Amino acid sequence: MREINALGRPLSTLPEPPALSEHGPARIIAMVNQKGGVGKTTSTINLAAALAEYGRTVLVVDFDPQGAASAGLGVSPHELDLTVYNVLMDRHADIEEAILPTSAPNVDLLPANIDLSAAEVQLVNEVAREQVLASQLRKVSDRYDVILIDCQPSLGLLTVNALAAAHGVIIPLTAEFFALRAVALLTETIDKVQERINPALQIDGVVATMYDQRTLHAREVLGRLDEAFGDKLFETVIRRTVKFPDATVAAEPITSFAPQHAGAAAYRRLAQELIARGGAP
Ligand SMILES: Nc1ncnc2c1ncn2[C@@H]1O[C@H](COP(=O)(O)OP(=O)(O)OP(=O)(O)O)[C@@H](O)[C@H]1O
Ligand SMILES: [Mg+2]
Repeated sequence: MREINALGRPLSTLPEPPALSEHGPARIIAMVNQKGGVGKTTSTINLAAALAEYGRTVLVVDFDPQGAASAGLGVSPHELDLTVYNVLMDRHADIEEAILPTSAPNVDLLPANIDLSAAEVQLVNEVAREQVLASQLRKVSDRYDVILIDCQPSLGLLTVNALAAAHGVIIPLTAEFFALRAVALLTETIDKVQERINPALQIDGVVATMYDQRTLHAREVLGRLDEAFGDKLFETVIRRTVKFPDATVAAEPITSFAPQHAGAAAYRRLAQELIARGGAP
């Protein structure tokens, strides 16, 4: 019998991701929602690790001065001399030198720390200030199959840089009514970036996170998300479980922290779904 999803529909059977014979050029995906605490960083780390399990080479770009993606991948960002900040502010800075390996096999990291909080103001006077990240990522794009950019909860210049660099956007969304409101402004911003800077940009999908199937409210919201986004809503729903914050404390992806846990299986399925949709090689 096929598995039933949170909307009570049978889940599609996804093909096993094909092995890749060569790596790159990367498909760049921005993980965006200007609302805080919706699972952007958790989804970035765990989707990256799941894609890597399928043999994809992945670069995670921490694009939040909080450095949560860096910390979650085992890199203590405070002690670093070279971060994404230097890469943004000095176009001669060597991005390769700033990239670090992580504890997750096949997952590299371009780390961030609090330095990045100055970048938004400093970039304002740059020529082509929206394109700075894009031009730097181009230098390493051939080495990776997927680049995931973990954005901060804002629609400011840094997030616009991420959208300008990206081929696709994944929007993590908590299954709550008020979470829906933020999305209108976000899709407006994506439309603007598409019109003015990056015509090829597309929304890869909306992923419902922290879903609690015991509440009627969450089930109703999922129904609304389904109406609003149709095919764009990933079939894979990420349930609420304390294993995610636990994995964050352990500074590793859930796929290695608790490989047998349903949360690890969920991000593996999300990776599979993304690949099946053409959102990743
Ligand atoms: N599926 C889940 N179940 C339970 N807790 C989760 C889940 N996903 C994320 N969390 C927890 O919720 C909190 C917020 O998640 P996360 O940091 O990924 O969100 P974010 O959108 O990146 O936040 P910010 O906007 O501050 O960057 C974290 O403590 C995280 O461990
Ligand atoms: Mg975050």
